[in-house]
Amino acid sequence: MALSVVILAAGKGTRMKSSVPKVLHKLAGKPLLEHVYDTAKGLSADEIVIVYGHGGEQVKNSCKHFDATWVEQEQQLGTGHAVQHGLEKVNKENTVLVLYGDVPLTEKNSLQKLLEIPANNIGLMTVNLQQPYGYGRIVRDSQGQVLEIVEEKDASEDERAIHEVNTGIMAACGSILEELIAQIDSNNSQGEYYLTDIFGLAANKGIKIETCQPADSSEVEGINDRIQLAKLERIFQRNCANKLMESGVTLIDPNRIDIRGNVEIAEDVVIDVNVVLSGTVKIEKGTSIGPNCCISNTNIAKNVTINANTVIDDATIDENVEIGPFARIRPETHLQQGCKVGNFVEIKKSNIGVGSKVNHLTYIGDTEMGTGVNIGAGTITCNYDGANKHKTIIEDDVFIGSNSQLVAPVVISRNTTVAAGATITKDTEEDSLVISRAPQKTIKNWKRPKKSKH
Ligand code: UD1
Ligand code: CA
Repeated sequence: MALSVVILAAGKGTRMKSSVPKVLHKLAGKPLLEHVYDTAKGLSADEIVIVYGHGGEQVKNSCKHFDATWVEQEQQLGTGHAVQHGLEKVNKENTVLVLYGDVPLTEKNSLQKLLEIPANNIGLMTVNLQQPYGYGRIVRDSQGQVLEIVEEKDASEDERAIHEVNTGIMAACGSILEELIAQIDSNNSQGEYYLTDIFGLAANKGIKIETCQPADSSEVEGINDRIQLAKLERIFQRNCANKLMESGVTLIDPNRIDIRGNVEIAEDVVIDVNVVLSGTVKIEKGTSIGPNCCISNTNIAKNVTINANTVIDDATIDENVEIGPFARIRPETHLQQGCKVGNFVEIKKSNIGVGSKVNHLTYIGDTEMGTGVNIGAGTITCNYDGANKHKTIIEDDVFIGSNSQLVAPVVISRNTTVAAGATITKDTEEDSLVISRAPQKTIKNWKRPKKSKH
């Protein structure tokens, strides 16, 4: 049967104490709702319906790229009321899976178990908790059949002693779900339309309720405040770290790496502590990343060494390159094979040719650099005239002396040697030496000024 997923995301999230709607708070750099949406996509859902309410426009705007149908639940009258709204936009012949915008870590495998439950039954995901306080309890008969779900606030003392609780995640044929929800009322301690009431109704009608459990209870944990958000963030990160180690990556401390995006990391990559990887990052075999590096949207080839405290964004790094410590590689930079970028060097929108070296205290921007170039300490490409950016071209085998400025647009031709302290404003000739500083003079017996005494 085809699948429709209804995601409940209308709740206010008061305990977040935030002007940002709860489902837009981020886990691993991605809104909670997007985690759930991606999970639904991963199940190849036919249609995804999101029930929204609080902060509606903000939520919709942030999730414009979703291929989903949005249904507004103006007043939050309970989970049953919310699902009823969602069902309005759903093909009733489909299996309907109910997920929650604030429960981000549910695994595909656990949901697939739930979806295997036969068409005329209802599937319910439950979990056994040491501390079941606050959750709906699963009441079973002596044969173990589910009879009903009782909410904490409506439960008797005996029912409160039950440790098997409702996760809220359930699946049923759309038409069965619609029929059951139409029969629920709000005669309970909270005056809400409880989705959970459909289970008692189903049991009375002889509809079988089949349960399954997630592999880990964190998969069904919801987020109500920032402490729970931080807790699930750590669980998510630890799971990522474990997957990386299982696939052959060495993590010096798996508790001190953060993955905020899609990473592909090959065997025998070594990652030191406090590394943050975001966006799409690919790292090939044998590369090592030192402590405190932030790398986003970058491809890094084999056997690259990235030393401590390096920041790389939107770049391409070829084989055998060495970067850092303390280097900043900015967007649209390509570091070609074997080149070296050292400490306190910033590179933006530039190509650094094979084997070239930019080792100390330098800014290279909008530059096309050839092979075998050596850039001395303190070199600056003056790429900006206050209004426009201009290009610097540095051809093969150029040597730039320390503390030089290259005022763009300018071409430093092949095998030019620029003497230290030069300000280059004109294109240079091949194989030449260019000196632009004032000749050194000597004034003998120079007396330095002295502080006057009063
Ligand atoms: C619900 C279940 C409870 C279960 C628990 C698991 C019911 C009646 N109770 O309780 O059995 O153990 O979840 O966490 O279903 N929502 C809407 N619109 C509404 C009401 C809620 O979109 O009108 C959304 C909320 O944003 C939230 C989710 O549904 O994401 C759950 O609602 P909440 O009020 O937190 O239910 P619980 O009382 O926790
Ligand atoms: Ca809740």
